[in-house]
Amino acid sequence: MRSMDALIAAAAEHLAATRNAVALTGAGISIESGIPAFRGPGGLWERFDPMEIAHIDVLRRNPAMVWKVLVKDLKAVMDHAVPNDGHKGLARLEALGILRTVITQNIDGLHQMAGNTDVIEFHGSFAWQRCMQCERRVETRTVDDTVLPPRCGCGGVLRPDAVFFGEMIPPLALWRSQETTAACEVMLVVGTSAVVQPAASMPLIAKENGAVVIEINPEPTPLTGAVSDLFIPGRAGETMNRILAALESDR
Ligand code: OAD
Repeated sequence: MRSMDALIAAAAEHLAATRNAVALTGAGISIESGIPAFRGPGGLWERFDPMEIAHIDVLRRNPAMVWKVLVKDLKAVMDHAVPNDGHKGLARLEALGILRTVITQNIDGLHQMAGNTDVIEFHGSFAWQRCMQCERRVETRTVDDTVLPPRCGCGGVLRPDAVFFGEMIPPLALWRSQETTAACEVMLVVGTSAVVQPAASMPLIAKENGAVVIEINPEPTPLTGAVSDLFIPGRAGETMNRILAALESDR
């Protein structure tokens, strides 16, 4: 087995050699910013069955309950979350001319806040609420959630502008993700359990098109040893710092 130093050096070498890397990120990259993940210890789906709280049919039937149990807490956390070293590392890779695009399954907006300019929000965004009646969008920070569910001026219920189970991936996000993935030379997969489709198939598309797949996650995933060329067992922030330190010291 390769030592951690050797894995970091190999990742830095692959990244230094490209100007067309793409990142695929998941909830794990935002854990160090205080946002809970979905699976694993402390994950949201440990407390709730996603089909009973995050399915579009449940939201339509009982929006007050979905707001009370899920959305209000998420709003409280996301209204104040700030990027950590994982997000900042990806922004630095873009500034260095290495990383072109971030495809994220996260809805927290932290990649944009960190400075990445091309972020594909595969599962939509929590920064906005959308009226279920007139489609008007309102910034989440400005929404008063003392009476649930919050409503638009037209009387319609406001809902996160994010993808619920049973809903389609925004078509442009899906199309652009497939295009950028197929064209990239290195795919950096950070903090995703890689079990939710179609996001989880992006590393496979990258690999089939000749890219090197580098995975950063404290735990192995279905990609590990199967699709990933390099698996770096570590947390996003610390690992990105080490990769950048190796990369920048070589320049
Ligand atoms: P998950 O919660 O499924 O997985 C989080 C991953 O992060 C796990 O593989 C952890 O091992 C890893 N992890 C934990 N701490 C970490 C750290 N400090 N640094 C890096 N990685 C860490 O999150 P996603 O894969 O993003 O979809 O979940 C995919 C989708 O499932 C979500 O977008 C959401 C959910 O249902 C929808 O809501 C539509």
